[in-house]
Amino acid sequence: METVIALDELRLARLRLPETVGFVPTMGFLHEGHLSLVRAAQAECASVVVSIFVNPTQFGPNEDLAAYPRDLQRDLRMLAEAGADLVWTPTPEILYPFGYQTWVTVEQITQLLEGAVRPGHFRGVATVVAKLFSCVRPQRAYFGQKDAQQAAVIRRMAQDLNFDLQVVICPTRREADGLAMSSRNTYLSPPERQAATILYRALSAAQQAFAAGERDAGRLRQCMTEVIQSEPLARLQYASCADPDSLQEIEGQISPAGDHQDCALLSLAVYIGKTRLIDNILLGD
Ligand code: PAF
Repeated sequence: METVIALDELRLARLRLPETVGFVPTMGFLHEGHLSLVRAAQAECASVVVSIFVNPTQFGPNEDLAAYPRDLQRDLRMLAEAGADLVWTPTPEILYPFGYQTWVTVEQITQLLEGAVRPGHFRGVATVVAKLFSCVRPQRAYFGQKDAQQAAVIRRMAQDLNFDLQVVICPTRREADGLAMSSRNTYLSPPERQAATILYRALSAAQQAFAAGERDAGRLRQCMTEVIQSEPLARLQYASCADPDSLQEIEGQISPAGDHQDCALLSLAVYIGKTRLIDNILLGD
C-alpha cells in the first residue's frame, strides 16, 4: 500500500494504478463501516484509493473540529490489512490554499434535515468531495447509507457537475446492539453508549409499525419521538419521515411515488449527552 500527501505524488501514483479505480473518501478514525466500503470497492474495482482528510469546511463554528478523533497510524495499519492500494492524506493547505474562494452548493436537498440544523455543512461536504473526485479521478466512489442525506447530496452533485463516475451507497454497519457505527461513538461514556441504542430502537419501532400497515407519516414520526423520549439521556433534535429522493417531509399517507412502491426515509438526530448522533432506515423498496 502506498501513502501519499502532495498532489503531484497522488497524480503519479494514480497513473500507475490499474483501472477501474474505486475511491473511499474518509475523515479517518476508521471503523468497520469504513472497511466495509473498502471491501465493496475491492470486490468491484481493480484498485482502491482511500483519502483521509478531516475537512474543516464541513464543521460549524460550534462543532467538534479540534476534538474530532484522529489516529493516522492506526488508520494506515487497518487500510494495509484491508488491502487498500493507495492512501492520500492531504493537508488543509493542499485542499484550501491561501485565497481559496470556490464552493459547490447543492441547493434544495441541503436545506432540510441535517442542512436545516447544520448551516454550511453540505457546502463543505460537496466542495471537498468534488475536489477529491477531481484529484483522484475514480470510476466508482463509495459512501455509507448511514449519512443518507450526504449520499443524496453527493449523488446530485456528481450528476449535476458531470463527474464521470458512479456513486455507490453501501448499507449502514451496526454494532451487535444496533448502534450505527460512527467515529463519534468514541465520545460516549459507558452509560451514554448504552443509551445510544435508543436511535435504532426508535427506527425499528417505526419500521415494525410500517410493516404492520401503518402508512401515516405523522404517526411514524410520533412513534420514533415517543421511543426517544423514553430515554432520559437522549434529547431529540428531529424525527423525520421523508421522501427518499427529495427529502421533503411526507404529510399524511406514505404512498407510491414515481418508480417506487410505498417507501420513505426515516431519520433521526439525537443528542446523547453532548454527542450528536444520526441514523436512518429506508422503508419499502
Ligand atoms: O462522511 C465523511 O466521512 C465525510 O463527510 C466525507 C464524505 C469524507 C467528506 O469529508
